[in-house]
Amino acid sequence: MGLACYNLFLRKHYEVEDIVSDSGAQSVDLEKISSLAKRRGFIFQSSEIYGGLSSTWDYGPLGVELKRNLKDSWWRTFVWERNDMVGLDASILMHPDVWKASGHLQNFSDPLVDCKSCNRRWREDHLEKQECPECGGELTEPRNFNLMFKTFIGPLEDDSSVAWLRPETAQGIFVNFENVLNSSRKKLPFGIAQIGKAFRNEITTGNFIFRTREFEIMEIEFFVKPGEDEEWHKRWIDDCLAWYTNLGLSKYRLRVREHEGKELSHYSKATHDIEYLFPWGWGEIQGVANRTDFDLKAHSKGSGHTLDYFDNETNEHIVPYVIEPAAGVDRSFMTFLVDAYTEEEVETSSDKKETRVVLKFHPDLAPIKVAVLPLSRNEKLAPLAKEVYDAVRKSSAVNGFVQFDDAQSIGRRYRRQDEIGTPLCVTVDFDSLDDNAVTIRDRDTMEQIRVPIADLSAELAKGLAR
Ligand code: GAP
Repeated sequence: MGLACYNLFLRKHYEVEDIVSDSGAQSVDLEKISSLAKRRGFIFQSSEIYGGLSSTWDYGPLGVELKRNLKDSWWRTFVWERNDMVGLDASILMHPDVWKASGHLQNFSDPLVDCKSCNRRWREDHLEKQECPECGGELTEPRNFNLMFKTFIGPLEDDSSVAWLRPETAQGIFVNFENVLNSSRKKLPFGIAQIGKAFRNEITTGNFIFRTREFEIMEIEFFVKPGEDEEWHKRWIDDCLAWYTNLGLSKYRLRVREHEGKELSHYSKATHDIEYLFPWGWGEIQGVANRTDFDLKAHSKGSGHTLDYFDNETNEHIVPYVIEPAAGVDRSFMTFLVDAYTEEEVETSSDKKETRVVLKFHPDLAPIKVAVLPLSRNEKLAPLAKEVYDAVRKSSAVNGFVQFDDAQSIGRRYRRQDEIGTPLCVTVDFDSLDDNAVTIRDRDTMEQIRVPIADLSAELAKGLAR
């Protein structure tokens, strides 16, 4: 599929205004999202009681669940459900020569400019005009600023002890190519997946968790025979897009954009970004690059250890080409959060209208899968409510976090669960004591069904399978 076709598949029109009005998608205020994220325990400012550390964030009780669900879904889709993938978890610190060979020491930099008036620093390639966006002042000539964080191994801080925090997980995969090949006995084409922390000393950060200095990547290096790389590149763009749309991301807000000229990384023959239409405009959520044989050859040369593949069919040693789908965990988190945020007008019991805030997460991602809500704190209801809560928590049909909430009116508790995206609420009421049944309420339709407690597990499994 060509680029134009991808974008046609994703939406009917190319203009941003059309996408928003055409899809019925709401334009979300970033301020609202970040305040909800803090209030409900998704994301907190790092070191907040010390005044905070800029652009660093901590994931709270709901944030860790959403993040974990996101990574699990990615791993299940791209590793467990395929027959051509294996996993790896390489260390963050690596031999410093890795970064020399990979080209990161020389090339992993952004053009830095300073404002001569207010001294603020900017990334030149992110500026619309050649003047300071803050005060309009004159800018210095750009100079290359390497994004890798430097540290030292051991007690001495000298050139012999320098190490770098990895800026991508990819190099851990390339240097382990032979280990994985020999131990897993995979044949081409096959891929190695890894999820882990990466660090970049970004010149400018911002837009909440969109661009930070510490983040997580979900990365695949997919090794193919040279000549088959372009076909595999297309297939990987399709597969990655399908992951986002299958998890409910609005396709009207997605597009595929090809890197041009100077934008291409030093290792890439072609890169396509999957972008999402955030409140401030289009932003990359993942790249899919054709890295060719650049890295395996670079590490063969750098280490003196040949990294190649023996092709039994042709009796030849070949250096595989690599297709690399690389997605940011935190950016995906933010994308799903923004996309899920919905405000709806609903009628209250007293015929008044109120705004219902709902995070319409796909059930696979929802931080809390099921909430168990006794109608009241009445002591007659408590034992059965606890019994139901225990059973739901341990039910394999739920496979995720279950919350118990008995504070305030049932209406307020439903709204609280809507606001954090809980797909199903189970209400235990006084009738439950007689009929041994409970009510399941669906987050999106707000419909309620009465089910026997004996069937609860099966009904929850049905409700969570969308
Ligand atoms: N190994 C290839 C690679 O690292 P990348 O496009 O530089 O490619 C992959 O990074 C993904 O990591 C991006 O698509 C983005 O989602 C995420 N990412 C990159 N820099 C980031 C940052 N400073 N903060 C948060 N996420 C970032």
